[in-house]
Amino acid sequence: MRLFIDTGSVKEVEEIAAWGVLSGATTNPSLLAKEEGDPGEAIKRICDLVQGPTSAEVVSRDAKQMVAEGRALRTLSEHIVVKVPFSPAGLAATRELTQDGHPVNMTLVFSANQALLSAEAGATYISCFMGRVDDMSVDSVAVLEEIVDALRPAGTTSQVLAASLRNPMHAVQAAKAGCEVSTIPYKVLKGMLEHPLTTSGIERFEADWQKRPEFATWLEGLVREAGTVGAAS
Ligand code: G3P
Repeated sequence: MRLFIDTGSVKEVEEIAAWGVLSGATTNPSLLAKEEGDPGEAIKRICDLVQGPTSAEVVSRDAKQMVAEGRALRTLSEHIVVKVPFSPAGLAATRELTQDGHPVNMTLVFSANQALLSAEAGATYISCFMGRVDDMSVDSVAVLEEIVDALRPAGTTSQVLAASLRNPMHAVQAAKAGCEVSTIPYKVLKGMLEHPLTTSGIERFEADWQKRPEFATWLEGLVREAGTVGAAS
Protein backbone atom coordinates (compact mmCIF):
# COMPACT_ATOMS: atom_id res chain seq x y z
CA MET A 1 0.00 0.00 0.00
CA ARG A 2 1.44 3.40 -0.95
CA LEU A 3 1.43 6.12 1.71
CA PHE A 4 0.43 9.72 1.13
CA ILE A 5 0.47 12.44 3.76
CA ASP A 6 -2.79 14.28 4.42
CA THR A 7 -1.87 17.86 5.31
CA GLY A 8 -1.59 21.48 4.21
CA SER A 9 1.56 21.96 6.29
CA VAL A 10 4.85 22.23 4.39
CA LYS A 11 6.71 21.74 7.68
CA GLU A 12 4.98 18.42 8.33
CA VAL A 13 5.73 17.24 4.79
CA GLU A 14 9.40 18.25 5.13
CA GLU A 15 9.74 16.11 8.26
CA ILE A 16 7.96 12.99 6.99
CA ALA A 17 9.33 13.19 3.41
CA ALA A 18 12.80 12.77 4.94
CA TRP A 19 11.79 9.25 6.08
CA GLY A 20 11.66 8.14 2.42
CA VAL A 21 8.23 6.52 2.73
CA LEU A 22 5.88 9.02 1.02
CA SER A 23 4.54 8.42 -2.51
CA GLY A 24 2.27 11.47 -2.56
CA ALA A 25 0.14 13.91 -0.60
CA THR A 26 -3.42 15.13 -0.28
CA THR A 27 -4.70 18.54 0.74
CA ASN A 28 -8.22 19.85 1.16
CA PRO A 29 -9.72 23.32 1.79
CA SER A 30 -9.89 22.76 5.59
CA LEU A 31 -6.25 21.63 5.84
CA LEU A 32 -5.02 24.57 3.72
CA ALA A 33 -7.13 27.06 5.67
CA LYS A 34 -5.25 26.09 8.85
CA GLU A 35 -1.92 27.28 7.39
CA GLU A 36 -0.50 30.77 7.05
CA GLY A 37 0.55 32.07 3.64
CA ASP A 38 -0.42 31.47 0.03
CA PRO A 39 -2.14 28.11 -0.63
CA GLY A 40 -0.67 27.90 -4.12
CA GLU A 41 2.88 28.22 -2.78
CA ALA A 42 2.20 25.58 -0.13
CA ILE A 43 0.77 23.16 -2.71
CA LYS A 44 3.73 23.70 -5.07
CA ARG A 45 6.22 23.17 -2.22
CA ILE A 46 4.45 19.96 -1.17
CA CYS A 47 4.62 18.72 -4.77
CA ASP A 48 8.36 19.41 -4.82
CA LEU A 49 8.89 17.60 -1.52
CA VAL A 50 6.94 14.42 -2.28
CA GLN A 51 7.65 14.30 -6.04
CA GLY A 52 4.44 12.35 -6.47
CA PRO A 53 0.65 12.71 -6.85
CA THR A 54 -0.51 15.69 -4.79
CA SER A 55 -4.24 16.38 -4.52
CA ALA A 56 -5.54 19.97 -4.65
CA GLU A 57 -9.29 20.40 -4.29
CA VAL A 58 -11.82 22.41 -6.30
CA VAL A 59 -14.42 24.35 -4.29
CA SER A 60 -17.17 25.17 -6.79
CA ARG A 61 -20.41 23.13 -6.81
CA ASP A 62 -20.93 23.72 -10.53
CA ALA A 63 -19.49 21.14 -12.95
CA LYS A 64 -18.15 23.60 -15.51
CA GLN A 65 -16.56 25.76 -12.82
CA MET A 66 -15.09 22.64 -11.18
CA VAL A 67 -13.46 21.81 -14.52
CA ALA A 68 -12.13 25.38 -14.84
CA GLU A 69 -10.73 25.28 -11.29
CA GLY A 70 -9.27 21.82 -11.87
CA ARG A 71 -7.50 22.84 -15.07
CA ALA A 72 -6.13 25.90 -13.27
CA LEU A 73 -4.87 23.82 -10.33
CA ARG A 74 -3.09 21.53 -12.77
CA THR A 75 -0.92 24.47 -13.87
CA LEU A 76 0.69 24.53 -10.41
CA SER A 77 2.68 21.33 -10.97
CA GLU A 78 2.83 18.18 -13.08
CA HIS A 79 2.15 16.28 -9.83
CA ILE A 80 -1.24 17.86 -9.19
CA VAL A 81 -4.24 15.53 -8.92
CA VAL A 82 -7.54 17.43 -9.07
CA LYS A 83 -9.59 16.63 -5.99
CA VAL A 84 -13.35 16.73 -6.62
CA PRO A 85 -16.04 16.28 -3.94
CA PHE A 86 -18.57 13.54 -4.76
CA SER A 87 -21.81 14.87 -6.29
CA PRO A 88 -23.60 14.71 -9.65
CA ALA A 89 -21.64 17.79 -10.71
CA GLY A 90 -18.47 16.20 -9.36
CA LEU A 91 -19.08 13.09 -11.45
CA ALA A 92 -19.59 15.18 -14.58
CA ALA A 93 -16.48 17.24 -13.87
CA THR A 94 -14.48 14.06 -13.23
CA ARG A 95 -15.54 12.60 -16.56
CA GLU A 96 -14.53 15.76 -18.44
CA LEU A 97 -11.23 16.25 -16.60
CA THR A 98 -10.11 12.63 -16.94
CA GLN A 99 -11.07 12.54 -20.62
CA ASP A 100 -8.73 15.54 -21.03
CA GLY A 101 -5.95 13.60 -19.28
CA HIS A 102 -6.18 15.28 -15.87
CA PRO A 103 -6.01 12.82 -12.92
CA VAL A 104 -8.87 13.15 -10.43
CA ASN A 105 -9.20 12.17 -6.78
CA MET A 106 -12.95 11.84 -6.06
CA THR A 107 -13.33 12.64 -2.38
CA LEU A 108 -15.98 12.46 0.36
CA VAL A 109 -16.95 8.93 -0.69
CA PHE A 110 -18.71 6.92 2.05
CA SER A 111 -20.34 3.96 0.30
CA ALA A 112 -19.72 1.25 -2.28
CA ASN A 113 -22.39 2.79 -4.52
CA GLN A 114 -20.65 6.15 -4.48
CA ALA A 115 -17.37 4.38 -5.23
CA LEU A 116 -18.89 2.49 -8.19
CA LEU A 117 -20.23 5.75 -9.65
CA SER A 118 -16.83 7.44 -9.09
CA ALA A 119 -15.04 4.61 -10.90
CA GLU A 120 -17.43 4.85 -13.85
CA ALA A 121 -16.81 8.58 -14.05
CA GLY A 122 -13.13 7.75 -14.49
CA ALA A 123 -11.72 8.80 -11.11
CA THR A 124 -8.02 7.98 -10.76
CA TYR A 125 -8.29 7.79 -6.97
CA ILE A 126 -11.42 7.34 -4.85
CA SER A 127 -11.03 8.79 -1.33
CA CYS A 128 -13.01 6.53 0.99
CA PHE A 129 -13.29 8.00 4.47
CA MET A 130 -12.74 5.96 7.63
CA GLY A 131 -12.69 8.28 10.66
CA ARG A 132 -15.84 10.19 9.84
CA VAL A 133 -17.69 6.87 9.35
CA ASP A 134 -16.44 5.55 12.70
CA ASP A 135 -17.54 8.85 14.25
CA MET A 136 -21.10 7.80 13.27
CA SER A 137 -20.66 4.43 15.06
CA VAL A 138 -20.52 2.63 11.71
CA ASP A 139 -17.78 0.06 11.02
CA SER A 140 -15.54 1.92 8.56
CA VAL A 141 -13.45 -1.19 7.87
CA ALA A 142 -16.52 -3.11 6.74
CA VAL A 143 -17.45 -0.25 4.42
CA LEU A 144 -13.89 -0.10 3.04
CA GLU A 145 -13.83 -3.86 2.46
CA GLU A 146 -17.18 -3.68 0.65
CA ILE A 147 -15.86 -0.88 -1.59
CA VAL A 148 -12.72 -2.84 -2.50
CA ASP A 149 -14.76 -6.02 -3.10
CA ALA A 150 -17.26 -4.15 -5.28
CA LEU A 151 -14.63 -2.46 -7.44
CA ARG A 152 -12.27 -5.37 -8.02
CA PRO A 153 -14.55 -7.64 -10.16
CA ALA A 154 -15.49 -4.63 -12.29
CA GLY A 155 -11.84 -4.49 -13.32
CA THR A 156 -11.77 -0.74 -12.74
CA THR A 157 -8.45 1.13 -12.82
CA SER A 158 -9.60 3.52 -10.09
CA GLN A 159 -7.43 3.23 -6.96
CA VAL A 160 -9.09 3.02 -3.54
CA LEU A 161 -7.47 5.67 -1.35
CA ALA A 162 -8.25 5.30 2.36
CA ALA A 163 -8.74 8.74 3.89
CA SER A 164 -9.78 10.31 7.20
CA LEU A 165 -7.49 8.01 9.19
CA ARG A 166 -7.59 8.68 12.91
CA ASN A 167 -5.08 6.15 14.29
CA PRO A 168 -2.29 3.74 13.21
CA MET A 169 -4.69 0.79 13.24
CA HIS A 170 -6.64 2.44 10.43
CA ALA A 171 -3.54 2.24 8.23
CA VAL A 172 -3.14 -1.50 8.91
CA GLN A 173 -6.86 -2.09 8.34
CA ALA A 174 -6.77 -0.16 5.06
CA ALA A 175 -3.79 -2.21 3.85
CA LYS A 176 -5.48 -5.50 4.85
CA ALA A 177 -8.68 -4.39 3.11
CA GLY A 178 -6.71 -4.07 -0.13
CA CYS A 179 -6.57 -0.28 -0.54
CA GLU A 180 -3.94 0.85 -3.05
CA VAL A 181 -3.20 4.02 -1.09
CA SER A 182 -3.77 5.53 2.36
CA THR A 183 -3.48 9.24 2.99
CA ILE A 184 -2.38 9.74 6.56
CA PRO A 185 -2.24 12.75 8.90
CA TYR A 186 1.11 13.72 10.43
CA LYS A 187 0.18 12.62 13.97
CA VAL A 188 -0.93 9.18 12.73
CA LEU A 189 2.28 8.73 10.74
CA LYS A 190 4.28 9.55 13.88
CA GLY A 191 2.15 7.03 15.79
CA MET A 192 2.88 4.34 13.17
CA LEU A 193 6.60 4.90 13.70
CA GLU A 194 6.86 4.65 17.44
CA HIS A 195 6.97 1.52 19.63
CA PRO A 196 8.33 1.37 23.20
CA LEU A 197 10.17 -1.91 22.55
CA THR A 198 12.02 -0.30 19.62
CA THR A 199 13.10 2.63 21.79
CA SER A 200 14.23 0.34 24.65
CA GLY A 201 15.92 -2.02 22.19
CA ILE A 202 18.04 0.76 20.69
CA GLU A 203 18.98 2.00 24.16
CA ARG A 204 20.05 -1.53 25.14
CA PHE A 205 22.18 -2.00 21.99
CA GLU A 206 23.92 1.32 22.69
CA ALA A 207 24.53 0.45 26.37
CA ASP A 208 25.97 -2.99 25.53
CA TRP A 209 28.14 -1.55 22.73
CA GLN A 210 29.57 1.06 25.08
CA LYS A 211 30.69 -1.72 27.45
CA ARG A 212 33.34 -2.52 24.84
CA PRO A 213 34.94 0.88 23.98
CA GLU A 214 37.38 -0.84 21.61
CA PHE A 215 34.42 -1.66 19.38
CA ALA A 216 33.81 2.06 18.74
CA THR A 217 37.48 2.48 17.82
CA TRP A 218 37.20 -0.48 15.43
CA LEU A 219 34.08 0.88 13.69
CA GLU A 220 35.46 4.43 13.40
CA GLY A 221 38.58 2.96 11.77
CA LEU A 222 36.49 0.90 9.38
CA VAL A 223 34.56 4.01 8.29
CA ARG A 224 37.80 5.92 7.68
CA GLU A 225 39.29 3.02 5.69
CA ALA A 226 36.13 2.72 3.59
CA GLY A 227 36.13 6.49 3.03
CA THR A 228 32.43 6.60 3.88
CA VAL A 229 32.61 9.34 6.52
CA GLY A 230 29.22 11.04 6.16
CA ALA A 231 29.27 10.15 2.44
CA ALA A 232 26.00 10.04 0.48
CA SER A 233 25.39 6.49 -0.71
O1 G3P B 1 -8.32 14.99 3.19
C1 G3P B 1 -9.41 14.08 3.15
C2 G3P B 1 -9.57 13.39 4.47
O2 G3P B 1 -8.43 12.65 4.78
C3 G3P B 1 -9.90 14.35 5.59
O3 G3P B 1 -10.51 13.59 6.57
O4 G3P B 1 -11.96 13.40 8.57
O5 G3P B 1 -9.53 13.98 8.84
O6 G3P B 1 -11.11 15.68 7.88
P1 G3P B 1 -10.78 14.20 8.04
